[in-house]
Amino acid sequence: MHENLDGTRPEKGVSAIAPKEGGGFPNPGLPPHEYRQADMDPRAEKRAERIVALMFLLSVVGTAVFIAAYFVVTPRGTNIFAESGSPQALWWSNLVTGLGFAVAVFFIGAGAIHWAKTLMPDHEVVEERHALRGSDETRAAAASIITDGLNESGIARRPLIVTSMVAALAALPLAVLAPLSTLGPLPGNVLHHTFWRKGMRLARDHDGTPIKASDVAMNSIFHVMPEDLTPDTEHYLEERAKAAAVIVRIDPRVGQNDESLANGYNGILAFSKICTHVGCPVALYEQQTHHMLCPCHQSTFDVTDGAKVIFGPAHRPLPQLPIEVDAEGYLVAKGDFPEPIGPSFWDIHKDK
Ligand code: FES
Repeated sequence: MHENLDGTRPEKGVSAIAPKEGGGFPNPGLPPHEYRQADMDPRAEKRAERIVALMFLLSVVGTAVFIAAYFVVTPRGTNIFAESGSPQALWWSNLVTGLGFAVAVFFIGAGAIHWAKTLMPDHEVVEERHALRGSDETRAAAASIITDGLNESGIARRPLIVTSMVAALAALPLAVLAPLSTLGPLPGNVLHHTFWRKGMRLARDHDGTPIKASDVAMNSIFHVMPEDLTPDTEHYLEERAKAAAVIVRIDPRVGQNDESLANGYNGILAFSKICTHVGCPVALYEQQTHHMLCPCHQSTFDVTDGAKVIFGPAHRPLPQLPIEVDAEGYLVAKGDFPEPIGPSFWDIHKDK
C-alpha cells in the first residue's frame, strides 16, 4: 500500500499525496531511474546485440526469399510448387512473395525497436522551461521597430490620409449589408402555424381517406395529413411538410400525462411527425415501450408522456395536435398545433 509523504497510511478514498501547506501539491519528482540489464551486464549487452543482428539477418533472408520467389514461384512461368498458369500457381506465388516481403519488413522494424530499447543511450534529460516573457532588450527592440514603422509611414503627419482610410474601412461593411436588404420578406408567422384548423379531418397520408376513431386499433400507428390539404392548395409541398403528423393509440391506463391524454381521444394521440432536432420524419414506433424514434440521430420520444424526449439530441417534445371526433365518428383536429413544429428557432416562443 502507498504511504503518505509523512509516512502515515492514507485512509480509504483519501489521496496518498498530502497537500502542501498554503495549497497546491508538492512536486512528486521523477521515479528513480531504472537501469536496463544491458546497461549493467556486459553479457546481456552482447546478447542484445546478437538478437538485433539476428533480426536484421532474418530481414535479409526475407528479402532473399522474396527475390527468389519472384523468379521461381511465378504464376505463369517457372513455378516449383504448382503447374504454371494454374490457380494454385498464382496462390503459391502470392503466398511466398508476400511472406518473404512481410518477413523482410517486419524484422527490420523489430530489430530497430529492440536496438533502441536495449542498447541505445538511456539518459533521462530534463529541459527546464524558460520564461515566456522576452528580455527587456528584446521588448525594447520590438517597440522600436513598431515606432520606426509608424514614423516612416508618416501617419502622424498625414491626417487627411488617416481620416479617409477610416472612412473607407467604415464604409466597406455596407457593401456586405446592402445585398441583405434584397433577401425578400421576413418569414412572418409561417413557422408558427400549419394547415391544421379546427374541425379538419385527419386523413391517411397518400390516399387521403379520413380516419374514424374506430379504425384505430390499439398500439397501431397512422401517418396523417389534413383532409383538406390537396395538390391544389397554395404552397402544397410546404404545407404538407409542416402538417405531417402521426396518430397512435395507447391504453389510457399506461398514459402518464393527463394533459396529453385530454388532448387525445380515448387514448388516440396525434403528434407532429417532424423531429424537433433537425426535422427528420419521426416514423418508427415501438409498440411495447410506446416510444417513437427518429431514425436520423436516434432521438426517442415517449408517447405515454406527451412525447417528451427521453434520449437523443432533440430538446423539445413533439408538438401534440389536439383532436376529437365529429358527429360521424371521424377524427378531427381541435385546432392547430399549440406551438411551432420541427426544429427550434430563435423566436420560437414569441407569440404570433
Ligand atoms: S433529426 Fe431527429 S434526431 Fe436528429
